[in-house]
Amino acid sequence: MKRILVSELQPGMRFTKPVYIDKNNMLAGANVSIKDTDLKRLNKWGIKEVETDGDLILVKGGQHHEHSQEVETILDNYNKLILLKERLVDIHDNACKTVIKTHTAIRNNRIFPTTELEKAADDIFSLIYENQNVFLFLYGIEHHHDAVAVHSVNTTFYAMLIGMNMKYTKAKMKDLALGTLMINSGMVQIPAYIMHKESELTDREYNQIKTHPILGYQVLKKLGNYPETSALVSMQHHEQFDGKGYPRGLKGTEISEYARIASIADNYEALLEKRSYRDKQFFYHAMKQLVSSGSQKFDPVILRIFISILSIYPIGSIVELNKRGIGIVIGSVPNKPMRPIIKLVVDQDGNRFRDLEIVNLLDDNDLYIVRTINEEESGIKISDEL
Ligand SMILES: [Fe+2]
Repeated sequence: MKRILVSELQPGMRFTKPVYIDKNNMLAGANVSIKDTDLKRLNKWGIKEVETDGDLILVKGGQHHEHSQEVETILDNYNKLILLKERLVDIHDNACKTVIKTHTAIRNNRIFPTTELEKAADDIFSLIYENQNVFLFLYGIEHHHDAVAVHSVNTTFYAMLIGMNMKYTKAKMKDLALGTLMINSGMVQIPAYIMHKESELTDREYNQIKTHPILGYQVLKKLGNYPETSALVSMQHHEQFDGKGYPRGLKGTEISEYARIASIADNYEALLEKRSYRDKQFFYHAMKQLVSSGSQKFDPVILRIFISILSIYPIGSIVELNKRGIGIVIGSVPNKPMRPIIKLVVDQDGNRFRDLEIVNLLDDNDLYIVRTINEEESGIKISDEL
């Protein structure tokens, strides 16, 4: 049985098999809509999860009764995506713990096995193969782990997404992930005061940071018996396509393909993080910045692949429409990225929609996106809305 968080259920959702509160109590029969009163009841009883063997049946939005087959598929995928959030959080959490454990082994100069890292890679692999849009939830996860570990795991998700779109075999995906999970293993050996320094680094300190790729490479080979191709990710992830990176100033394809992928994932992830000198950036701003600064720094072919994964209005983008208010992008039909399907959240007067309201820009020629907005300005928290 699949467990589903009550917080993820919405009135009107139906499943192909019955939904159970526990062994003896059914919440809703097969193909029967879950009602608002059902959800209130569960909340009142403090029940956090329900179970079903069924799949979610498409939720029809508001007044829009008929959707084309393409749109039905998008809605269906979106509904399935929501149900993956809990698994993503679990897999992410375990991967962070494994990275931290391995960093500790490195700090203590202890030999470490790669089995758990491989398991983390495997789990991420199956999750993104099930639905590549799960990366969306990375943005909203609350973290209690150290920043280097979280960064390495997030970078691994993005790198594997690129690998998947480059039709990598499972074996290659694993080698790539082994590299990115330990992308900053050399940082473990840099004094903590430098790592956490909020003010500007001195030249000496900066030079010390710049040794982390080599330190990382050496330690992965020595303590982890790492395959060369994976260890090179650590060694070369700060090399740049134009030859202006470090430590060796390698150019173009002199840099290994895994490291070229890792560099894009690493930089994109860093743009999403909050820094002492700037707030966390919203993901399409991060993408724009990657494109503008990236034409020299990154492999242009791989960068294009990554941007196509993120798309113009990635799922989870908050957009303001010329009328009807503000909503969240939940998908788009291939080849029509400018006309996505949107779940409305607030109307033009700022009132929240009570029922699920889906608009399809493909069907509605009077409707268009005026602009994208970030969470703060819109007052919408994506992780709460999906
Ligand atoms: Fe690094």
